[in-house]
Amino acid sequence: MDLSAFQWQLDRPIRMKTAEFQKEDRLTHCIFAAQLTRPLLDKLCFIAELIRVLSRTKEGSNKLRELLSHKRAMLYFTQPSTRTFLSFMAACQILGITCNDVRDPSVSSEVKKESPMDSIRMFSSYFDLIIMRSNVSKFAECCAYQMNDLAQNSMRSVPIINGGAGSDEHPTQALLDMYTIERTFQFDHKENSPRSRYMEMRRKYSDLTLGPDNKTYAFCGDLGRGRTVRSLATVLGQYKNVTMCFIAPEDETLQLDPDLRDNLIGKGVNVYELDSLDATVNGKPVLEEADCLYMTRIQKEHDTPELAARYQQLDLSHYKLTLDRVSHMKDYAPILHPFPRDSEEAEIPTDIDNDPRAMYFRQARNGMWARAALLLHIADAVDHLNVLYKEFYGVSAEESLQ
Ligand code: NCD
Repeated sequence: MDLSAFQWQLDRPIRMKTAEFQKEDRLTHCIFAAQLTRPLLDKLCFIAELIRVLSRTKEGSNKLRELLSHKRAMLYFTQPSTRTFLSFMAACQILGITCNDVRDPSVSSEVKKESPMDSIRMFSSYFDLIIMRSNVSKFAECCAYQMNDLAQNSMRSVPIINGGAGSDEHPTQALLDMYTIERTFQFDHKENSPRSRYMEMRRKYSDLTLGPDNKTYAFCGDLGRGRTVRSLATVLGQYKNVTMCFIAPEDETLQLDPDLRDNLIGKGVNVYELDSLDATVNGKPVLEEADCLYMTRIQKEHDTPELAARYQQLDLSHYKLTLDRVSHMKDYAPILHPFPRDSEEAEIPTDIDNDPRAMYFRQARNGMWARAALLLHIADAVDHLNVLYKEFYGVSAEESLQ
């Protein structure tokens, strides 16, 4: 794909880019994890919570569907996807957005040599929003530039949402991961409830605080080629007093990208790089220290024959969970995984699924609520949600969910 026309825009520092993808506090395109600032994340998590609550009843669901029933979305997913595709589709359905998709460019006019950029512009003629995934890492970013150029020339332009770009970025996965982390570390906290799980955990772990700050996050698996770890670590780097332990096989292609490491250290994150789930940090086993464990699969689809041969020499058992390893973890520490897990490698064997710390199925479902929140935010319809909530429950969302 020829993206050379956008080279000068691509070469700029991230700050300049993110400024172009928002209007005041509202995102106009969602391309980078760095756009998910802490205040925005708080807002999106709150919106996701309201949508979740309203969806519990038929009446609430019907009202939610009125919010964006005048919008149409194109899901342009030319790289395999199950969860991101379906949860975006479900999120659209929750809000009444009509969807269509192109998943196989061989059945589109791209076989007649139409450029992907022309395809995108065509989609923007028929739809109000484009959600896309591509194995070309900068493609979504360039589509957003194209839309901004059109807007500047007073032509039709629609928001672009990046549902996964090469091995670079997966911002909406980071959003749903943060929503899951945020919910988990609120426990079932109710200030006046002496039996709250938080109080119970505090008795055993006296340093435990609410929320994502002051925590140790362990990431394990293919950290070099997995875009989810890159995006989530970028976002978590904004929180206070955060330690990150990156556990990856001893092959530089699978290890933490040095730029990301420097960036995290620059933000004040304590970074450790380890070669096994049984390794220690400051003399203590990492699994005992971790407040949250983020597992990933080895991304074999990126293997070349040489890499595959090299990886044959690695002992991957150091990067797989077992019931014994889980038994060393803190009682409250969630086990996350963006999924799919590899059923042959079994980095998380299914016998762990019933452990209360196994959070990955809930994490996937949270994707639907978090993505619906993002769609509502980008469509500038959050005020309508607040009005709806008050009509429905007789109290404002703030009052009822505090
Ligand atoms: C991830 C992806 O596509 O990057 N999956 C997802 O979106 N939930 C992770 C993966 O494929 O391993």
